[in-house]
Amino acid sequence: MNGFPARYRGDPDALRSLVQPDRIHRDLYIHPEVFALEQEHFFANTWNYVGHDSQIPQPGDYLTEEVGGRPLIVVRHADGGVRVMMNRCAHKGSRLVSAPSGNAGKFFRCPYHAWTFKLDGSLLAIPMKNGYEGTALHQTDSAQGLVQVKNVRVYRGFIFVKINDAGPGFEDYFGDSLSSIDNMADRSPTGELEIAGGCLRFMHDCNWKMFVENLNDTMHPMVAHESSAGTAKKMWADKPADEPKPMAIEQFVPFMSDYRFFDEMGVRVFDNGHSFSGVNFSIHSKYSGLPGYEQAMVAAYGEERAHQILGLTRHNTVYYPNLTIKGAIQAIRVVKPIAVDKTLIESWTFRLKGAPPELLQRTTTYSRLINSPFSVVGHDDLQAYRGIQLGLHASGNDWVSLHRDYDPSEVGQAEVTTNGLSEISMRNQYRAWARYMTLTMPAESAR
Ligand code: FES
Ligand SMILES: [Fe+2]
Repeated sequence: MNGFPARYRGDPDALRSLVQPDRIHRDLYIHPEVFALEQEHFFANTWNYVGHDSQIPQPGDYLTEEVGGRPLIVVRHADGGVRVMMNRCAHKGSRLVSAPSGNAGKFFRCPYHAWTFKLDGSLLAIPMKNGYEGTALHQTDSAQGLVQVKNVRVYRGFIFVKINDAGPGFEDYFGDSLSSIDNMADRSPTGELEIAGGCLRFMHDCNWKMFVENLNDTMHPMVAHESSAGTAKKMWADKPADEPKPMAIEQFVPFMSDYRFFDEMGVRVFDNGHSFSGVNFSIHSKYSGLPGYEQAMVAAYGEERAHQILGLTRHNTVYYPNLTIKGAIQAIRVVKPIAVDKTLIESWTFRLKGAPPELLQRTTTYSRLINSPFSVVGHDDLQAYRGIQLGLHASGNDWVSLHRDYDPSEVGQAEVTTNGLSEISMRNQYRAWARYMTLTMPAESAR
């Protein structure tokens, strides 16, 4: 296995031993067998985001996605519901649809031998059907049509799936972390979000977990982003305090806030790996108001509720493992693991229905400046991940430290709120990783 001895298959205890309460083993990031087992088990046992309701408004509209290496079709059925099925023809296994999105019309037709399937995945027709008379086809899975993903949940437009039946249901899995999705949707005067435009794809030469754990790593911005955000800050340093800041300056400068700012921001973690930083305020709190928006919110919700919604300016919320959102800026990033050292990050922007167009402009500016492949800030992070991916091949120390502000009493709690510089969000992710990685493995070692 590329110079890595096979070590983990059939041995859940060995996998669990990679995660200690305050440190983790380097194999989590660099061992190809760990990645293969994640695809097989971990991603099938967790709830993963696969798209947004607004991308498939009409019957027959579909998206193609992948969870844990399994190709999926997410489709709007004629009854208005969302169905998720394996993108695998019931005949000889061909992928049924290959475009990232489209409209199937009334049915899916396989490009190989033209078996057809209804939008709910059931088998509609087979050419020259009489050739199957007297055969056992009708007793097999193939006669049932496409394999359904049963665990599907659309929450405020966000579509999540869980491949396996094992593990908690949707509400138990995400718990109160769903309040960040609520806040993002509530920021629309109509309470609805809509995907705006396509996505920005950014290939990262690193293991997917490095990206996810960085979202609430508050010890890095003032260091890693000094060359980008620090330059923007310097450029603006001589301007009079009352000079209106361009949107880009307003978005860059808070990355250079000091340790105290990020510590006081606070972090909250939830069971199953979810977390957000910015409990008290965040780098998004000081953005200037946009004309007409606050008035539209007050008109929709009333003074008190509108200010409650707009006053919640969380930084990043991680819906572990594959969705990260910025409710305050209506941008999300979706994590797509490709290989042990390769991860595709997709950035999507949302329109708040009923809000002035400047809101979307703020979101797209942020995505371009911070999250896109042509961003300067995003490259700072990527450079750090690349460095880790290479550095961890060194020998002599197998462990990665996550000791900052570790408190043994945090283990096993459903929710903890603490100081923002704590590495608790990462420890919390890895505890969830160990649980869901081994959930569907036999309890005793098979070696
Ligand atoms: S593989 Fe799909 S019809 Fe044959
Ligand atoms: Fe960063």
